[in-house]
Amino acid sequence: MLATSAAAHTWHPEAEVDMPAQQTVLVVGGTGRTGRRVIQQLLGRGVRVRAIVRSSSKLPPEVAANPDLTVVEASLLSLPDEELQRQLRGCDAVISCLGHVLDLKGVFGPPRDLVTRATTRLCRAIEALEPEPPIKLILMSSVSVHRPRALDPRRGAPERAFLWLLRGVLPPARDNQRAADFLLEKIGPNNARVPWVVVRPDSLLEGEVSEYTLHESLVNTLSAPGSTNMANVAHFMCELVTSPKTWADWKGKLPVVVNAAASPDTMPKAA
Ligand SMILES: NC(=O)c1ccc[n+]([C@@H]2O[C@H](COP(=O)([O-])OP(=O)(O)OC[C@H]3O[C@@H](n4cnc5c(N)ncnc54)[C@H](OP(=O)(O)O)[C@@H]3O)[C@@H](O)[C@H]2O)c1
Repeated sequence: MLATSAAAHTWHPEAEVDMPAQQTVLVVGGTGRTGRRVIQQLLGRGVRVRAIVRSSSKLPPEVAANPDLTVVEASLLSLPDEELQRQLRGCDAVISCLGHVLDLKGVFGPPRDLVTRATTRLCRAIEALEPEPPIKLILMSSVSVHRPRALDPRRGAPERAFLWLLRGVLPPARDNQRAADFLLEKIGPNNARVPWVVVRPDSLLEGEVSEYTLHESLVNTLSAPGSTNMANVAHFMCELVTSPKTWADWKGKLPVVVNAAASPDTMPKAA
């Protein structure tokens, strides 16, 4: 039997999946390691997917051939506002799995604010459309991102110093924090026009969908990290789209998602 706390929820992969009427989701970053899994799992649930990608050849052939997938080859940041709004029109949700390519150019070259700019553009486009019901925004982030005003447990001094250095030296770490800050501070957690969830996985792993736990705040430290299968990140993001209860539970929050095997909640308790 797994232990859970008030702030933690445990997902069993065999749990029933809600299947409302066919939905449409716009995915950005869908050619990435996690984004690809998001597209695959959405299609597997019968969700229609629109994907804005730089190169469609990076999508797995069986995914690219799916009639429920529409691919737009474009650079997200230079897409005209009207075109971005056109792609969002009729969508129930947008999922961003954007991340800086992990090479010298991707980490230190422009756009250093890829995630923040993309998030801002998506929010502004949703605001301009004023869709009813509103389009949900789901952003993939990281446990290096913290919530302000001590909402997360205070990290130790060495960890805070390390993260301060990391954000100073590595643009992607700063970018992820700024994108989350934008949603928290500028859009706000109770914004009815642009409802959002920021998903914070720990160290990403390959592997299938497995049991995972969800937490309101950080559960591991950077020196003793947890792990999260990318398939589990994708599964949770899909749940946010297809399960109204999951959405209601996490709207306006920054859930931490970790593999159950690595979660402190499922560690054997001392006798
Ligand atoms: N690595 C970890 O352990 C870890 C842990 C927790 C969270 N995260 C965060 O999770 C997110 C996703 O990670 P991932 O490893 O799944 O990502 P990834 O495999 O690196 O994929 C990144 C995606 O972003 C796209 N992209 C990159 N630069 C772009 C640009 N300038 N314009 C448009 N699209 C661009 C890529 O497109 P192309 O395919 O065209 O390059 C790709 O689709 C990142 O924000 C990362 O910081 C990572």
